[in-house]
Amino acid sequence: MRRLIICGSPRALGRSAALAEALADAYRVQGDEVDLVSLASVDIASCTGCLVCEQNLRVHGRDPLYCVIADGMVRVRALLNEAEALTVVSPVYFSGAPSQLKAFFDRLQPYYYAHMFKSKRPCDLFVVGEGGDPHGFAALVSETRSALAVAGFRLETVHDWVGLIRPDGALMDEVGALCGGRVSPASEYLMQTPTGIFPKVGEDVHA
Ligand SMILES: Cc1cc2nc3c(=O)[nH]c(=O)nc-3n(C[C@H](O)[C@H](O)[C@H](O)COP(=O)(O)O)c2cc1C
Repeated sequence: MRRLIICGSPRALGRSAALAEALADAYRVQGDEVDLVSLASVDIASCTGCLVCEQNLRVHGRDPLYCVIADGMVRVRALLNEAEALTVVSPVYFSGAPSQLKAFFDRLQPYYYAHMFKSKRPCDLFVVGEGGDPHGFAALVSETRSALAVAGFRLETVHDWVGLIRPDGALMDEVGALCGGRVSPASEYLMQTPTGIFPKVGEDVHA
């Protein structure tokens, strides 16, 4: 299986990078063909909300994924389109995604209009953190699920590695990168709000 790993940390040599490398090795042993992208070394600017991408399908001959910002996202998008499965590894920053990962997510907006993928490909999220923050990381799960749904992925499993990786990158769970940590179906991460529980049951977000 062709798998893309996206490491969302701004630190090239932090805990997430160590876990992403260990995962790449484990997937290769499993027989996967693996591409690993570290957002620490890719220049991805923030989406400005210009919504030019909303027009793409109406402009003859234009790439349906055209974006006015030409940067590292072009390369990452090519890998994303070819991937049969996706793994996101990210630290939790105040319950949500670090700004580099959020910029990547927001720049997926052209997919929202392109409707390129008729069926969804599997995606797993590995969460890294120092631990000790009482607010959890449901926001990170939600952002990942929502953004990647438009790009044709279904978030299936969340691997909670918070507090389980030493600063030098050593994994403190001997079960190994793929099966270690606390593993739960993504459906167990829900956002409860005054207007209901999200994701809404049975609704295929941005299908
Ligand atoms: C701005 C910021 C916010 C953070 N928020 C949290 C948090 O809410 N929960 C947590 O467990 N760790 C939090 N951390 C700690 C990081 O998740 C931790 O340092 C992690 O190792 C960073 O990942 P990296 O080593 O891959 O860069 C935060 C760190 C920063 C810089």
